[in-house]
Amino acid sequence: MNTRITELFSIEHPIVLSGMSWISTPELVAAVAEAGGLGILATGVLDAEQTRAAVHKTRSLTGRPFAANVTLYFPGNRANAEVLIDEKVPVVNYSLGKGDWIAAAVHAYGGRVIATVTTIKHALAAERDGADALIVTGHEAAGHGGQVTSLVLVPAIVDAVSIPVIAAGGFADGRGLAAALALGADGIAMGTRFMNTVESPVHESAKDVSVARSIADTVYTNRVDGLPGRYVDAPGSRRIIRMRLNPLSALMRSREIAGLLGLPWFKLATGIVLSGYRRSVQMARMAIGFDAFKKGCTDGDVERGVLPLGQCTGLMKDTPTVAEVISRTATEAEAALDRTRSR
Ligand SMILES: Cc1cc2nc3c(=O)[nH]c(=O)nc-3n(C[C@H](O)[C@H](O)[C@H](O)COP(=O)(O)O)c2cc1C
Repeated sequence: MNTRITELFSIEHPIVLSGMSWISTPELVAAVAEAGGLGILATGVLDAEQTRAAVHKTRSLTGRPFAANVTLYFPGNRANAEVLIDEKVPVVNYSLGKGDWIAAAVHAYGGRVIATVTTIKHALAAERDGADALIVTGHEAAGHGGQVTSLVLVPAIVDAVSIPVIAAGGFADGRGLAAALALGADGIAMGTRFMNTVESPVHESAKDVSVARSIADTVYTNRVDGLPGRYVDAPGSRRIIRMRLNPLSALMRSREIAGLLGLPWFKLATGIVLSGYRRSVQMARMAIGFDAFKKGCTDGDVERGVLPLGQCTGLMKDTPTVAEVISRTATEAEAALDRTRSR
């Protein structure tokens, strides 16, 4: 299936693996690339040196194009972006920040840039800043999806910009891909579906959770890491949602939080004091949320940890290989489009 994004990234299928910390590793990214999709290497929890090693590892596993992401809002991620530029990674994906400098540097070596957005305002800004394509993440998504559902957000942004849109949030099979194309997108990005694959390094119990849970078994809240996002509805998520935090408690836990964020304690404590009430509570939540994600993603522990999970978890009945996901998504999408035409 050819669309503007298969052309733009020289891939076979308009299917993208979302960047997921601890999950979108070189091995998973390479598996997606070898199956004809575009894998996004997650660098959110890596430092600059680890980012460089992960890029080298990905290159050793596949000769095909791949992407890597940076979440500009997270401390230290600017340095990761500089590594991706230095390494001339074919496609750089950024989110939660201004990426004009990334676009200029990546274009200078002939690479491509994808910005991840959840609003029309940010989509327009990313297009102005030089992004070649957008990942548009709707409300159904695991993690930081928007306030508006994909069904409404995707066509609204397709109408607002002229660059290709990759729809994310709620897509788990070929019917979803066909629907995204019908909405005017040029492809889909999937997180929850690829998290639950044979090659995914997530703990096996997280894969079992994603098969067992229904479409209604997730919560959308800003009380996990300070930004609105969707997680499995389980004791670990409920505990962190109930947790009360204020700048004083953030300051009291600042040593632990600094350790979690990999920042010098003095810098963090000063930051908490100087940044004002809202930002300091958000920073504390981010650090505590980070630790909870780690437990959810690496230990599959949803009793104590937090697992990002999309509503499409309820559409999943199995744990296939990456190649199966990509080939059946592409085949089902063709069939779904034929079916609608013949009606
Ligand atoms: C287990 C898991 C972990 C994730 N971790 C991150 C992350 O570290 N950073 C990020 O930007 N998005 C993360 N996401 C969100 C995905 O990048 C993507 O936006 C989302 O999964 C798309 O929606 P879907 O789950 O409906 O496919 C995660 C998603 C899942 C399922």
